[in-house]
Amino acid sequence: MSEFHRLDGGGDTLLVSLQEGRPHIAYWGPELAQGAEASLDARLLDRAVPHGMLDGGVAFGLFPQNGWGFTGAGALQAHRPDGRFITQLAFEGCRRSADGIDLVLADTLARIEVTISLGLDAASGVAAFQTRVRNVGPEPLNLDWVSPVALEVPGGEVLAFSGRWAREFDTERFRPGAGIWASESRTGRTSHHAPPFLVVGEAGFGEHHGQVLGLHLAWSGDHRLFVERLRDGRLQVQAGELFWPGEIMVEAGETYQTPMLYAARSDTGLNGLSDRLHGFVRDRIMGGRLRAKPRPVHFNTWEAVYFRHDLEELKALANAAAGVGAERFVLDDGWFRGRNDDSAALGDWSPDPVKYPDGLGPLVDHVRGLGLAFGLWVEPEMANANSDLLRAHPDWILGEAGRVQPLGRGQYVLDLTRPEVSDALFAQIDTLLAGNAIDYLKWDMNRDLTHPASGGRPASHAQTLAVYALIDRVRAAHPDVEIESCASGGGRADYEILKRTDRIWTSDCNDPIERQSIQRAFSIFFPPEVMGAHVGPADSHTTARTTSLELRAMTAMFGHMGIEADVRDFGARDLEALTAAIGLHKQMRGLLHGGRLVRQEVTDPGTSAFAVIAGSEALVSVAQVETSKSGAAAHLRVTGLDPLTLYDARLLNPPKRPRAAMKQVPALASGETLRATGQWIAQSGLPMPILRAGEIAVLHLTRSAG
Ligand code: DGJ
Repeated sequence: MSEFHRLDGGGDTLLVSLQEGRPHIAYWGPELAQGAEASLDARLLDRAVPHGMLDGGVAFGLFPQNGWGFTGAGALQAHRPDGRFITQLAFEGCRRSADGIDLVLADTLARIEVTISLGLDAASGVAAFQTRVRNVGPEPLNLDWVSPVALEVPGGEVLAFSGRWAREFDTERFRPGAGIWASESRTGRTSHHAPPFLVVGEAGFGEHHGQVLGLHLAWSGDHRLFVERLRDGRLQVQAGELFWPGEIMVEAGETYQTPMLYAARSDTGLNGLSDRLHGFVRDRIMGGRLRAKPRPVHFNTWEAVYFRHDLEELKALANAAAGVGAERFVLDDGWFRGRNDDSAALGDWSPDPVKYPDGLGPLVDHVRGLGLAFGLWVEPEMANANSDLLRAHPDWILGEAGRVQPLGRGQYVLDLTRPEVSDALFAQIDTLLAGNAIDYLKWDMNRDLTHPASGGRPASHAQTLAVYALIDRVRAAHPDVEIESCASGGGRADYEILKRTDRIWTSDCNDPIERQSIQRAFSIFFPPEVMGAHVGPADSHTTARTTSLELRAMTAMFGHMGIEADVRDFGARDLEALTAAIGLHKQMRGLLHGGRLVRQEVTDPGTSAFAVIAGSEALVSVAQVETSKSGAAAHLRVTGLDPLTLYDARLLNPPKRPRAAMKQVPALASGETLRATGQWIAQSGLPMPILRAGEIAVLHLTRSAG
């Protein structure tokens, strides 16, 4: 008889079985009948072992170890100072916890105790795995690798995430072959190039179909995530912190705790996955704190003035921002003592006396007088070589004394693991927040950690925890201040940072063509209301592409909307269109920030389409990001609507000169309303106008009165 431990949540059951004293996931799928495990034939869990392998076969399970005969990469790699490294952790007991169950494993010879916490969120069905490794021996225990668990994943196809500055959340799909595919960040942040997200599914999975499992390691520091084809053909995924040599030395009686590994399953492709993850982020990661608060439309000064701060000009910008409907003014980089470009002043967090002779007060008062909230940019973890802070405390740099470090933007990382450094930074931020009516911080982080050492030892792990602690301390002291997570755009986008922040700056690229794909991939794991999305200038500074106001505004409108351009340069027509788009965003904010986001599959590879649906209302965005290969527009089929509801469909932005692209113009393109059921729209679709590259159509669907 096998012993089972069962978790139910979100319509799923996760069943852990114990075989030969080791835990295995015996089942993870749609909810089983209550008590089904009691009558399960234990032989269903058997596995044939071929000749040429160890007698027990590939000893794979929830926490595989090489000491048990597992010949893949074990979930735990550890060693003692005298070289002993073999582990054979066996099941000791199971405890119910508030969030699920704790499985306790122990190895009395290696003197290690491991506790694996498993939870399955009741509402969303998102699983959470976290593991603690306790050294119960007298000597230190060196940890080389710990993945909270190893997960067996469906074998067909991987969707991996990569990217670079200004092109975050790039995706790549491949079929995993033999061996290991790994993604690693040694940058001390979630990273642009290797964000710890992964989807593995049956071959050919899509937005609406296929079994998939999505995984995310919630950690803002160095990490490794890998997929390994085992010798028996199964595929395992592990993810954990990437330790620098000798970094994690657990002293006698001490414990190391892994980051959380979140995972969710879907039988209905990527959208089913997002349904679970969005609900989970909204309720559990963010604790519901954004649910009740409308997200204010931002005006951010960066692409409007960069480092050129002039009080009168900024006031004029605030006036213009208020005029188009902005609700929060965020003063970006360039405001503090000696900051005229990116080569100096990080660390000196008081207003520049030349630009702000009377402090920030006059600007804050002006902005608030307009009815806007006030936000401020900071980059607390860093200091420029050319700063008063580092002149006074050159030893506060994270690194090893005597080493010349490569610089990034002329700056160093500060050693936040030293309490005096964190205290000094907290004091500066606290003074700023206590002395000014600031309700928002854009918390930036703009360089890789290359020498993550403190006191002569690796300190990437401790630095990451110290960043969390500093943010937590700021939040505790100023609970009404919201915080945005930024790292040269979307270099720090993960669920652990989101537990203590309210928004992610998705990318420094405001070019809407690029944004369509960045935001689409971002939306697999994050709901729209945390996705910073701004209307930039017509000429994008990152891509040199020129785009229409309409495309920029309609692209930004589907996230946490903002403006990041000198709106005083906009012509009357663009100002009017921007004001209208912001008005529309506000009007639809409840739907946009609380609805169900359903990415659509379309036949034209040049088109990107998605819908946001709540009740019997939906907004559908159809963007033509490159010219269509076919020339004629296909009917737009929208998945996710209620099949029985009769909808009125209307384009919110019918083309101004429809005959430029079409000699026969469908009714929607003439501003007319079409009526059809959700079923019809899903199956036969709606006749759409032909869109030329760079054009966008936004469709509004409401329950028909007739
Ligand atoms: C990088 C951020 O991603 C930008 O939005 C901007 O805040 C700059 N830093 C300012 O230096």
